[in-house]
Amino acid sequence: MVFTFGLVFFQLMIMATADCSPNLDNAVVEDPLTMLVKHKGSDIKNIRNWRYIPAFTASLSYTKNINDEEIVKFDKVWTNNGNYYDPNTGIFIAPREGLYQVSTTVMSVDGKTVYVHIWQNETRTVGLYPGTGYSEATANIVLHLKKGDKLTVRGGDSNHPYLLSSSSHYSMFSAYLIA
Ligand SMILES: *[C@@H]1O[C@H](CO)[C@@H](O)[C@H](O)[C@H]1NC(C)=O
Repeated sequence: MVFTFGLVFFQLMIMATADCSPNLDNAVVEDPLTMLVKHKGSDIKNIRNWRYIPAFTASLSYTKNINDEEIVKFDKVWTNNGNYYDPNTGIFIAPREGLYQVSTTVMSVDGKTVYVHIWQNETRTVGLYPGTGYSEATANIVLHLKKGDKLTVRGGDSNHPYLLSSSSHYSMFSAYLIA
């Protein structure tokens, strides 16, 4: 953009000094101006404005047992751009297709283990299985989501149900649109 403007300005300078005829090439002048107007006006959703980036981070504010395939409802919302994550259900619904960075961290209860997976719709993706007692595991993945696809963190095995979070929010879930 800056380069384009610089180039056009340079060309106009040359035209103005070397050629005084009024027949300036309008296409050269109009194109960057049209771009500028579009960026400032109605076309703003096409540029990377943070207000339009689906993004959320939520954590669990209490210790919890989770059953097999039970959705973890991360209740404390830190960021929820566009409100596509619902803390009442624990579900994030992608508002548009794209590549999403998805991450979760879980901590096991003292003397116990916990086992969870990140799910895309009804498909289990990566799993986390931190060791016994106050151990943490983190997964960071990139998923291609279609509009309407759902992201959740669900329990993976009812033999390992102990998820720790407490008031220090050791367990969390987050996702955002990359592009
Ligand atoms: C995921 O589920 C939603 C609604 O439940 C549906 O609209 C979408 O097509 C599903 N995505 C895939 C990839 O199956």
